[in-house]
Amino acid sequence: MKGRLEGRVAIVTGGGHGIGKAYATRLASEGAKIVIAEIDEKAAQAVAQELTAAGYEALGMRTDVSDPASVEKMAAAAIERFGRIDVLVNNAAIFATVPMSRSPFDQITVDEWDRMMTVNLKGTWLASCAVIPQMRNQGYGKIINISSGTALKGSPSRIHYVTSKAGILGFTKTLANEVGKDNICVNCVAPGSTLSEENPDEGIIKMRNQAASSRALKRVQSPDDLTGAIVFFASADSDFITGQTLVVDGGSCLH
Ligand SMILES: NC(=O)c1ccc[n+]([C@@H]2O[C@H](COP(=O)([O-])OP(=O)(O)OC[C@H]3O[C@@H](n4cnc5c(N)ncnc54)[C@H](O)[C@@H]3O)[C@@H](O)[C@H]2O)c1
Repeated sequence: MKGRLEGRVAIVTGGGHGIGKAYATRLASEGAKIVIAEIDEKAAQAVAQELTAAGYEALGMRTDVSDPASVEKMAAAAIERFGRIDVLVNNAAIFATVPMSRSPFDQITVDEWDRMMTVNLKGTWLASCAVIPQMRNQGYGKIINISSGTALKGSPSRIHYVTSKAGILGFTKTLANEVGKDNICVNCVAPGSTLSEENPDEGIIKMRNQAASSRALKRVQSPDDLTGAIVFFASADSDFITGQTLVVDGGSCLH
């Protein structure tokens, strides 16, 4: 049976670990050719090799989304290897693999605040700028930004992270307006607290279990719980949907 993304080319930033890896794997299983654009080059190559061994087409490359030259290279490599870019998943962020502190608002360093905005927000903008010329040429494209449920309901700490993810909501709506005339859809997925860590310690497992108890669907969220929403926004099923945010959190943030 043909997948829903047969013939499509998808870039997943931060696709070497955690939830991004699950996005890359699921998009590949739906027929897309995949570029894993990841700051951890080893991880990018490892995921690309895994996908290739499973019979899919994939390219892994070191990419720093906060560096304009690096995301330009990412887009050029995707076009050179696969000839087009249909989907960009702006998933890379400072979160777990490149860790953030969970400090109170007045104990976050200025450097960490700036780095958070540079990767999570500016990186999303830069990666979008790098792929949109190709999407415009094609007259078709899907940009999927990753926010967080915390941007909608607040959080007891990590104000820099939550602020960056709230920025993604406005970015999504405005970019959707600007590129709609080019038939490019821009949507957003806001995950809930997800057990994405590769080697979670007891504290992390406790935190993820606590999140499970406060949602309608009372279980721990896994990366695979998020992939259906990504395929939907990447596929023709959502061709007349843009500027939207879909919260995928088992009914924690009901808005
Ligand atoms: N896990 C959760 O509970 C949760 C909840 C809400 C939202 N999210 C969001 O989902 C996305 C994935 O989260 P995750 O839990 O898999 O975390 P993660 O830290 O494992 O994944 C982020 C990925 O981005 C990569 N990365 C970091 N800086 C980069 C850069 N400058 N350029 C390119 N790649 C870079 C990391 O190496 C990593 O592979 C993030 O945007 C995160 O904010 C996660």
